Amino acid sequence: MFENLKELPADKILALMQLYRDDPREQKIDLGVGVYKNAEGVTPVMRAVKAAERKLVEEQQSKSYVGLVGDPAYSDAMIELILGDAVERNKVGAAATPGGTGAVRQAFELIRLANPKARVWVSDPTWPNHTTILAYLGMEMKTYRYFDSETRGVDFDGMMADLKTADKGDVVLLHGCCHNPTGANLNKVEWQAVIDLLNERGLVPMVDIAYQGFGDGLEADAEATRMVAAGVPECLIAASCSKNFGVYRERTGLLMAVCQDAGRTGINQGTLAFLNRQNYSFPPDHGARVVTMILTDPELRADWAAELEEMRLGMLEIRQQLADELQRLTGSDRFAFLAQHRGMFSRLGTTPELVQKLRDDHGIYMVGDSRMNIAGLNAATVPVLAKAIVDAGI
Ligand code: LMR
Repeated sequence: MFENLKELPADKILALMQLYRDDPREQKIDLGVGVYKNAEGVTPVMRAVKAAERKLVEEQQSKSYVGLVGDPAYSDAMIELILGDAVERNKVGAAATPGGTGAVRQAFELIRLANPKARVWVSDPTWPNHTTILAYLGMEMKTYRYFDSETRGVDFDGMMADLKTADKGDVVLLHGCCHNPTGANLNKVEWQAVIDLLNERGLVPMVDIAYQGFGDGLEADAEATRMVAAGVPECLIAASCSKNFGVYRERTGLLMAVCQDAGRTGINQGTLAFLNRQNYSFPPDHGARVVTMILTDPELRADWAAELEEMRLGMLEIRQQLADELQRLTGSDRFAFLAQHRGMFSRLGTTPELVQKLRDDHGIYMVGDSRMNIAGLNAATVPVLAKAIVDAGI
């Protein structure tokens, strides 16, 4: 049997992580994988997470199974965080999942189960794992234009034109905030136009929200997802706590199936439970419990939100520093988009060859499509990167 196995293509983001680790140069800069790092290059355990974990060790009496969709208190807390009061709780079926990827995978499986003919439309570009999971599941995928390589903003006209060709029942995957990999996002008016189009054509949105709190703030970053949830008959929302709670390795995510007909919530919820059972049975609990403790304790929640806000402002400052430094070196506003992008990533908009050159000549690691993790920079490395960008002729 094993002789039939072939070498599979490596995930380009994870492969880059390894290349960086193997690079013996001291002066190297990691702008690859989407993991937050502070100015010292450390991915810290957030204060509120530490405090909740300590409490958990003291108070937890059992590690017995919780439930197929996880602890309902976790779903409640996350639904409140993401959806606020945009939709009533009884319209939301929800299940804890192993991380945001688990939620994405389960969402795709639900789509396949509910409508095997549905095609899933993803932005060009999107997070590479979206496309590989769809391919792995044998689901048909289509792309819609998204990134304007001239302005480095959203090609909104292209996006709308492409989505107008989608068939009724097709699913449109949207990034709730902080688009990965580009950093370019829709504004509120554009979101409303997308929602109107979805309704006109009978398309089902699936929102992936993995960076709430990294863009314009916890509430602002949830706004588009709330507009979608309230503005369409049904949608899926895949959420991750990896980044905004810094619990990457704890695999803490949530999948929501939102339906304006509350009478369907039971079946939706049952389907999510079934899918969990088939794929891994009970979802991981530790991260979800810690997140629940934080969100339901006013003091922990305030401290978590404050630390997240510090992280967000730090990334905005780095964006501005980089844009300013490039402005100074080039005498042009060509790189002003870096300060306008939001979230952990910006797509520089250059060729794989020049990305490779940055790596070879300067030990600067970014994904081949020129996505860079802004959190990988600090005040000392910003000028190094800016100079390397100019030297490379980008
Ligand atoms: C990323 O985009 O770098 C992160 O979401 C990490 C991952 O799993 O790819």
